[in-house]
Amino acid sequence: MKDLKKSGLSPDFLIANVENASHGFGLTEKNYNELSGYGINCFTSGNHIWDKKEIFNYINKAVKLLRPINYPAKTPGVGSRVFEIGDTKIAVINALGRVFMQPIDSPWEILKKEVKKLKKITPIVLIDFHAEATAEKVCLGRFCSELGLTAFFGTHTHIQTADEKIINNMAYITDAGFCGALESVIGMDFATSLKRLQTSLPERYEVADLKVAQVNAVELLIDSKTGSALDIKRILVEIDYNKEDGGISEI
Ligand SMILES: [Fe+2]
Repeated sequence: MKDLKKSGLSPDFLIANVENASHGFGLTEKNYNELSGYGINCFTSGNHIWDKKEIFNYINKAVKLLRPINYPAKTPGVGSRVFEIGDTKIAVINALGRVFMQPIDSPWEILKKEVKKLKKITPIVLIDFHAEATAEKVCLGRFCSELGLTAFFGTHTHIQTADEKIINNMAYITDAGFCGALESVIGMDFATSLKRLQTSLPERYEVADLKVAQVNAVELLIDSKTGSALDIKRILVEIDYNKEDGGISEI
């Protein structure tokens, strides 16, 4: 994050999906605190948020962290939060898709109710929809725009899509992409990933621990009075840690 600021980005509010921030699987409390210290305002997650067992010990006191809202009611953690930046309130929701994913409660009715509730507090409502299938993301995106959301960004597939647009005053992108090793299989080492595919035998994924990273993100411009999105831009930056200055360049 310190490096990103060198590239000239200084957002008023920063959201990061951290479901795999701790060496490729889940999120430790130590990493949660570390990332909070870098100025991230809100952490969204997804199906892998449970991968580090210690999550169950701290998720209920992690005030910036969300887990998908459509887990069964007694699941620890929360699926939406309202954050305050000066006089501005920003609501963020996190939800999981159901196509090619583990069985989970339907997000459609839950979102309708949640957005209605949040809109009474603030016109600015954003969602991270963590899902596999592009068609499900496109459909839920359209649905969210009709509910009056400010921004919809998809996550989970790790590959940034080039379809950013404004729909019904809502910023939309099917997938925001990922941050991790540039020469990798969505952040994982090529050798183990290839072995899995070529042999169909179980092989534990290894994180690609390389010195050149990519940062995928989107930058939004929002009208804070109305909650309408004015602009969405894709960010794709390469950071070369072999270079002393961080070697930041646009890809
Ligand atoms: Fe995921």
